[in-house]
Amino acid sequence: MPRIAYVNGRYVPHARAMVHVEDRGYQFADAVYEVCEVARGFIIDMPRHLDRLDRSLRELRIAWPMHRSALVTVLREVIRRNGVVNGMVYLQVSRGVAPRDHVFPAATVKPALVVTAKRTDPLAIARRAANGIKIITVPENRWERVDIKTVGLLPNALAKQQAKEAGAQEAWFVDPDGTVKEGGSTNAWIVSKDGRLVTRPADMGILRGITRATVMDVAKKLGLVVEERAFTVEEAKSAREAFITSATTVVMPVVEIDGTTVANGHPGSVSLTLREAFFDVAEKTVA
Ligand code: PDD
Repeated sequence: MPRIAYVNGRYVPHARAMVHVEDRGYQFADAVYEVCEVARGFIIDMPRHLDRLDRSLRELRIAWPMHRSALVTVLREVIRRNGVVNGMVYLQVSRGVAPRDHVFPAATVKPALVVTAKRTDPLAIARRAANGIKIITVPENRWERVDIKTVGLLPNALAKQQAKEAGAQEAWFVDPDGTVKEGGSTNAWIVSKDGRLVTRPADMGILRGITRATVMDVAKKLGLVVEERAFTVEEAKSAREAFITSATTVVMPVVEIDGTTVANGHPGSVSLTLREAFFDVAEKTVA
């Protein structure tokens, strides 16, 4: 099945899905995005993703490219045209196309919308979760507004490349005080020695992950205590468990941090239980 993308009002073959050279997303990273998981034919937590999109757009004073319900139709259509049952749908809204100038273009310039979808292999992801992943840590070097989901991801891309070259799958950004912020494309969690789930408060220092929010709901349902506080790399290394969350990984156990084995080097039972219960608790919209 050939891949199809939605670009500014048209469904086009993926290979010919292009934006203008003066799209502000391309020139200034003046664009925001969302990634929703598609699982077993459902879009996972779509309302929460669209609420966060709304917040990102407001923070940057970019208009919605179309009505929310029309955007849902486009997301569904791109998923359908690509035959995605398990995978992800990506949407990006830029401030639009205008002659290069740092200041905002005239209000007549319409935001640009791109939507793509991709299949993923649930078995490969499940295998990865069964083994757990390795993390490296890197100094935080991003701007303060990482709570806005912009496409300005160069520090994230560099950190994740560094992780890959070190044989790891994710990099955690760490503040000068030694506390963990979040991963290059995931939120960071530990299970403390006394069995509490610990994750950094979703203030302006991290992205307010949708999977993070739903995992909190899952934890509540399972009667687990969640403590929103910062934790250090040292605490994570000696924690009972560590894991990451995102729309593409759901709950992914961490078994090594900077070469130090976490617990017995195998995914922990709390991480795996949260992973298993996630789909039942998450909000599911038929794709
Ligand atoms: N990344 N932190 C960062 C920096 C992220 O980029 C992401 C998502 C998350 C987790 O958020 P959520 O649970 O809403 O997916 C945390 C997406 C998946 C990406 O860039 O591909």
